[in-house]
Amino acid sequence: MTNAETKATLSFSDGSPSIDFPIYKGTVGPEVIDIRKLYGATGKFTYDPGFMSTAACNSSITYIDGDKGELLYRGYPIEQLAVNCDFLETCYLLLNGELPTAEEKVTFDATVTKHTMVHEQMQFFFRGFRRDAHPMAVLVGTVGALSSFYHDSLDITDPHHREVSAIRLIAKLPTLVAMAYKYNVGQPFVYPRNDLSYSANFMHMMFSTPCEEYKASDVLVRALDRILILHADHEQNASTSTVRLAGSSGANPFACIAAGIACLWGPAHGGANEAALNMLKEIGSVDNIPEFVRQVKDKNSTVKLMGFGHRVYKNYDPRAKLMRETCYEVLAELGLENDPLFKLAMALEKVALEDEYFVSRKLYPNVDFYSGIVQSALGIPVSLFTGIFAMARTVGWIAQWNEMISDPEQKIGRPRQLFIGSPTRDVVEIESRTPASK
Ligand code: CMC
Repeated sequence: MTNAETKATLSFSDGSPSIDFPIYKGTVGPEVIDIRKLYGATGKFTYDPGFMSTAACNSSITYIDGDKGELLYRGYPIEQLAVNCDFLETCYLLLNGELPTAEEKVTFDATVTKHTMVHEQMQFFFRGFRRDAHPMAVLVGTVGALSSFYHDSLDITDPHHREVSAIRLIAKLPTLVAMAYKYNVGQPFVYPRNDLSYSANFMHMMFSTPCEEYKASDVLVRALDRILILHADHEQNASTSTVRLAGSSGANPFACIAAGIACLWGPAHGGANEAALNMLKEIGSVDNIPEFVRQVKDKNSTVKLMGFGHRVYKNYDPRAKLMRETCYEVLAELGLENDPLFKLAMALEKVALEDEYFVSRKLYPNVDFYSGIVQSALGIPVSLFTGIFAMARTVGWIAQWNEMISDPEQKIGRPRQLFIGSPTRDVVEIESRTPASK
C-alpha cells in the first residue's frame, strides 16, 4: 500500500472547515480514501450499508476485477490454476503466497492427509442431530465443536498454532461434510483413506459403504477438484467478512469458520447453488420458462433467477465459464447429455442471456448456475451443495483470518450507525402508556 499523488478533500456546505484525506494505491484495482480520522476530526461517520464503496481491510490474497471478469489467487489467473493445479496446491498457494515446489507439495499433501480423521467422540455430536437436519446446520455445530478438541493449538498469537489449526480445518472439513451426508441417509460413517487424493477421498467417504468400495473415474474426481478450486476464495465476500469480523475479537479459528459457514448458508451467497437447482426443478419443463421469466421480471414478485447476477462481476463470472466446461465434461462422462434438467438449464440460460431485462442489468450466469448441475450429476444431494462450497471456502476463510491476525494494524471490527430511533425519553406508568402502532 503506497500513498497516491492526490489527496481527497471533503468540504461542507455549512461552512465547516474542509478536511484532507490520504489516498492509497494497491498493486492493481481501485485506490482507497483513508477516512479513519474522519470521526475524530468532524464528528461524522460515513454511511455505506452493504459496503458498496468500502474497503474493510488490505489484503494480498485474492483480486477480482468485476468489469473484466478477472479472478486472481495470489496473482495467478483462476483459468490457469483450474487447469494446471489441484486443490491442495491451490490451498498451499492461498495460505503461503506461492505455489509449492514438488517437494513442498509432497510434504503439504501428506500433512493434510494425516489430519483427515476426526476425534471418535465427534460421532456423538452427529447423533444429537435429527437425521433430517440440514447439513449446513450440522456443519455450523460440528465445526464450532472442533474448538473443544484442540486446546493445544488455540493460541492465535502463535503462528505455529495458527498453521496447525489451518491444516486441521482443511483436512477435516471433507470428513465432516461426508459424515453429515452419511448420517442423513442412515449409512455408517466411512473413515478417510490416506492413499487417495483430497477429492477422491471425499468421494470415497461419501459413496463407499462397508459392503462396497466406490471407485470414481478421473473425470469425476477432477470435476470435484475444480469445484473446490473455483470456490476456494473470493476476496471480502459476506462469509469471509464474517470470519474476519468474528476473528477480530480474538475468537478461535474453529468458531470463526463456523460463523463463516452460517453466513455462507444464505441463498444470496453459498445457498445459491441449492436454490438454483431447486428453481430448475420447480420450473419443471422448457415450456414453463416464459412464465417463469415473466415472474422474475415482475416488479411485484420476489422471484429471482437463481445462479444469475453478482455483486462484483458485471460482465461475466470467470468461474462460471470454467464450471460450464466441467458441466459438459461430466455429463458426457456419465452419458447424461440429454438429462432433462440439464436441457432445461441450457434453455433457461439462452433465454436469459438474450432478454433485455437481464442484459441491461448486467446479469450473467454465476458459478452456482452450473455447479449445482455438476454436483447433482456426481451424486451429491442438493441439500449438501452449500456444504461442498463450505469445504472449498474453508481455505480462503482461514488464509484471510490468518492474514488479519498477522496484520499489525488489526483492530476489533466495530461499525457504527446512523441512529433513526427515538431520542431520550422517560418511562411512564403502565396505565398511561399508548399501544405501539402495528
Ligand atoms: N434475478 C432477477 N433480477 C435480479 C437478479 C436475479 N438473480 N439479481 C439482480 N437482479 C436485479 C435486481 O432486482 C435489481 O433490479 P432493479 O435495478 O430493477 O431494482 C438489479 O438486478 C440489480 O441487482 P442488485 O440486487 O442491486 O444486485 P446486488 O449486487 O445487490 O446483488 C446478488 C447481487 C448476487 C445478491 C443478486 O444478483 C442475486 O440475488 N442473485 C441470485 C442469487 C445468486 O445466484 N447468488 C450467488 C452469487 S455467486 C456465489 C457467491 O459468490 O456467493
